Amino acid sequence: MTDPESPDAEVIARAGEILRRGGLVAFPTETVYGLGGDALSPDASRKIYAAKGRPSDNPLIVHIADMDALWPIAAEVPEAAKRLAAAYWPGPLTMVFPKTSLVPPETSGGLPTVAVRMPSHPVAAALIRAAGGYIAAPSANASGRPSPTRAEHVREDMDGRINMILDGGPVEIGLESTIVDFTEPVPMILRPGFINLRMLREILGEVRTDPGILSANAGSVRPKAPGMRYRHYAPKAPLLIVEGTANAVTAEINRRAGEDISRGLAVGIIAAAETAGTYRNGLVREIGSRQTEEEIARHLFDVLRGFDEAGVDRIYSEAFDTPKLGMAIMNRLLRAAGHQVVKL
Ligand code: TXA
Ligand code: MG
Repeated sequence: MTDPESPDAEVIARAGEILRRGGLVAFPTETVYGLGGDALSPDASRKIYAAKGRPSDNPLIVHIADMDALWPIAAEVPEAAKRLAAAYWPGPLTMVFPKTSLVPPETSGGLPTVAVRMPSHPVAAALIRAAGGYIAAPSANASGRPSPTRAEHVREDMDGRINMILDGGPVEIGLESTIVDFTEPVPMILRPGFINLRMLREILGEVRTDPGILSANAGSVRPKAPGMRYRHYAPKAPLLIVEGTANAVTAEINRRAGEDISRGLAVGIIAAAETAGTYRNGLVREIGSRQTEEEIARHLFDVLRGFDEAGVDRIYSEAFDTPKLGMAIMNRLLRAAGHQVVKL
């Protein structure tokens, strides 16, 4: 394991060398593990798509370690974006700008724009510098699976497909970065994350949210982040979200789980710490307390992967409309459920 606080210089140099030569290295960030390649190399980007089994029209985020690295790749950076960078970079925030010709179309999925993030994780920052300044990195999961929050998750999906995995232990946040599009007159949230609407409004004033964030593809609206089009985060078993008052939810999940189990099915249940004890049967996974929503965010993908390993046939989940991270948590959970929700 690489010390997440002060990464081993020799290991970073070796990983940087692999990236400079066009290879792939998975590495920890504060959000989720990334699958890195040289962002300025068309060939490295093609390798990333192949390793993930990802459609090549779904663009990659370019990771930088210093503000000076932004200007050569972003053609236009509005004042508002500079203020946002000053407030939240390095950190779990990605901004979309018109791109320059330095960013190959293979990296931007053919779009005229580029998504840029400056991660705060010391291993990520050191690796970006060692690689020459620009790492393209999607989440290091196989396409469609929950994003990896531990190195073991990366191994599950990527073993044998990439050159190296840097193990920095479990990540801190557990949900991917907030994506804000600055190519619109009013900045728009394309993907909610740890940097929430309130934090963005504080700096930017007016901010819009993509209508697809909490609804099933919002009819004819074309999602601006192409990745939001695809089935994602999905566990193998069908997942149903049950929404309502705590008592109604536990009663409904108990009733449905009881029926399933009497038909011979294995059932998984995602529950908050406050209600986990009220489920009578099924494999109950306590995701965290509603009082510490960061915990719920951190555990979500790991819990979803755990049900694949346990081989359950059906999964029920409580809804987690918590005050700060609720939008980000529910965006991932709804997509994992294919928007199957029962409202009581
Ligand atoms: O936290 C994160 O952002 C992680 C870590 C590794 O940094 N990365 C990550 O990358 O989540 P990925 O590829 O799994 O998700 C990137 C999302 C996709 O939905 C993609 O469509 C969108 O960002 N995206 C990338 N470039 C874009 C662009 N130019 N315009 C709009 N959306 C873009
Ligand atoms: Mg991803």
